Amino acid sequence: MDKIIVHGGHQLSGTVKISGSKNSALPILAATLLTRDTCVIHSVPDLSDIHYMLQILSRLGAQVERASGTVTIQAEDISTVAPYDIVRKMRASVCVLGPLLGRAREATVSLPGGCVIGDRPIDLHLKGFNALNATSRIEAGDVKLFANELKGATVNLEGRQGPTVLGTDNVMMAATLAEGVTVIEGSAAEPEVVDLANFLIKMGAKIEGAGTRRITIEGVKELHGAEHTVIPDRIEAGTFLAAAAIAGSEVTLRRVNPEHLNAVTNALIDGGYLLDIRKDQITLRSNGTPRPLELITDPYPGFPTDMQAQMCALLCRASGESRITEKIFPQRFMHVSELKRMGADISLDGFTAVIRGISDMSGAPVMASDLRASAALVLAGLVADGMTEVNRVYHIDRGYECIDEKLAGLGAHIERLKSKSAS
Ligand code: EPZ
Repeated sequence: MDKIIVHGGHQLSGTVKISGSKNSALPILAATLLTRDTCVIHSVPDLSDIHYMLQILSRLGAQVERASGTVTIQAEDISTVAPYDIVRKMRASVCVLGPLLGRAREATVSLPGGCVIGDRPIDLHLKGFNALNATSRIEAGDVKLFANELKGATVNLEGRQGPTVLGTDNVMMAATLAEGVTVIEGSAAEPEVVDLANFLIKMGAKIEGAGTRRITIEGVKELHGAEHTVIPDRIEAGTFLAAAAIAGSEVTLRRVNPEHLNAVTNALIDGGYLLDIRKDQITLRSNGTPRPLELITDPYPGFPTDMQAQMCALLCRASGESRITEKIFPQRFMHVSELKRMGADISLDGFTAVIRGISDMSGAPVMASDLRASAALVLAGLVADGMTEVNRVYHIDRGYECIDEKLAGLGAHIERLKSKSAS
């Protein structure tokens, strides 16, 4: 398994280009199953999660070609059984359920396991499919869907922790080919849901209200091929803003949509950083030490749970006590114990991390546990004294395209040690 070595104490400056959004590309690639025609998707990031999704689509019978950031897919004749050996590698594989149900009226996909950020149920997905007149059952670790015909319905997909992003995606995709009108109440409003809806509309779907808590889909007979460019990754952008804040002097992010990360830029401004926000770029000027903050993760447009770990790392350096409360995935604090190995002063009070700022952290060997926690450890390594060795970086490669190369391009002293054994 590869490792990333970070030598702390080197300022960041310069410009970095943000890649296409992982969490937008994944459901959009799954949506190509809804038509026999060819689809062309641009700005698809080169990530292991994307690789797994393309593997699944191939195994389902789609023709898949990738040329740098562009993926061409034609799902002319498909099977409806997504193989366990690939699905088990990526929880987001669950988003092929909706397109398979919409296209073929049946689907068999192995249940997503949990992961370190917590249990990942799909009860709301199934609630939506059942509302569309599909039957669902769990059999030998698979979720099996079947429908003689899909009928539009009104269904509320809000759960105890709020809306479900992939659940909204799944039901929206199935509903595009249902008979009649479907209304999803309590829908997720994330920019990635809007990007998927825009792609579906290009395919001929009739969708209104994406980006709000109420999405209306009028079913059509069939969908046709389309071409689409994936939106920039707002979480990668937020991660690089946090890196600039923790270690930067002046860093500019290009190819971003600032509207998608208002909650993050507002938090950094509250932390005392100077941000120059333009149409498709953001420049952050950093004096290094943030003011303490009180943050609570919330569904979009609230503060994103996917930025919680990165802000923990930044606030380890604040001039006082900060509090971050995790409302979406309450167990999402695996990064805390690793940051404490680097000298951070953090304690957990229920679902709230209480972070007392310290002046310096020390480099250490640390263990990545999930995608965003890994990024937080790299950020901390940028300012820790000495060397930080982040192990199990396959976590980070799931969601960040060449993060070590991009940070090195900004002046970080960072290198990837390739593992000897093939992993
Ligand atoms: C998406 O996951 C993202 N992944 C996650 O990003 C992100 O953290 C999450 O949305 C929240 O914004 C992708 O888009 C591929 P949810 P998703 O369904 O859709 C509960 C990253 O780092 N819930 O919105 O799987 C669930 O347990 C990843 O890029 C149910 O109770 O998340 C959670 O508490 C991590 N029943 C809350 O809802 C359900 O049927 C939100 O989950 C579904 C979800």
